[in-house]
Amino acid sequence: MTFKGYAASTRKRDRGFMMPYQVIIPAAGQGKRMGVGKNKLLIELSGIPVLIHTLRVFENDEKCDGIILAIHPQDKDEFTTQLKKYKITKVKNVVSGGSERQHSIYNALKTVTNNGIILVHDAARPFIKKEHIHRLVAAAEKTGAAIIGVPAKDTMKKVKDWKVTETVERSSLWAVQTPQAFRMSILLEAYVLAEKENFLGTDDASLVERLSTPIEIVEGDYDNIKLTTLEDLFFAEAIMKKRN
Ligand code: CTP
Ligand code: MG
Repeated sequence: MTFKGYAASTRKRDRGFMMPYQVIIPAAGQGKRMGVGKNKLLIELSGIPVLIHTLRVFENDEKCDGIILAIHPQDKDEFTTQLKKYKITKVKNVVSGGSERQHSIYNALKTVTNNGIILVHDAARPFIKKEHIHRLVAAAEKTGAAIIGVPAKDTMKKVKDWKVTETVERSSLWAVQTPQAFRMSILLEAYVLAEKENFLGTDDASLVERLSTPIEIVEGDYDNIKLTTLEDLFFAEAIMKKRN
């Protein structure tokens, strides 16, 4: 490398140069716990569907190189209309979801061809910030796997048959969110192994934990809630208000 080239690459590193990433967004659930009789991702916050709020974060992130969206076939027409209406251009692939979140993500993963950094982010978490995405991607570039979360605030206990069996040391407990970021080859290996061993996890890191890859945790914020039940809509409106 020439001196000029070396100096430029050093400057890039100093500025925290980041490779582009792609993101898988599972959106193929039914929103049963929300109980509104349709996919909760179509619920509007300040007049815009949750799905669009989430997609916009990535649409507006210059480091995002493409979105792979997993959807339920019954939502196809409505989602397509919304993507057009809000001019979401980065969705490269739309795949059919499966019966579980993990199956939806696997269907999406099978369409990714390059071996860069891949993120998985729930469509139901519209409040993720670009700053946190970038910190996560930087960590995953370094270690191969990184997830975002927040330290547990409540005292946590183990309970069995309605009886407390143990107080778990809180300082070691984190509530984990999405996005989760991985080198593509690592995530794919984890998914192949999970399928082979019939393992069903509630997040992507739990699949990667079965390999021996270390997973780094990045501290996010408590606003990055997943809209799950009705009361979350009130929290969501409050977060929107705070941000405006
Ligand atoms: N998801 C998915 N495919 C599934 C199930 C869930 O792509 N088979 C997506 C959801 O659309 C959501 C994310 O995974 O963006 C997290 O799932 P969750 O919050 O559980 O959403 P739902 O499954 O839709 O809700 P519920 O479990 O209450 O039915
Ligand atoms: Mg679900």
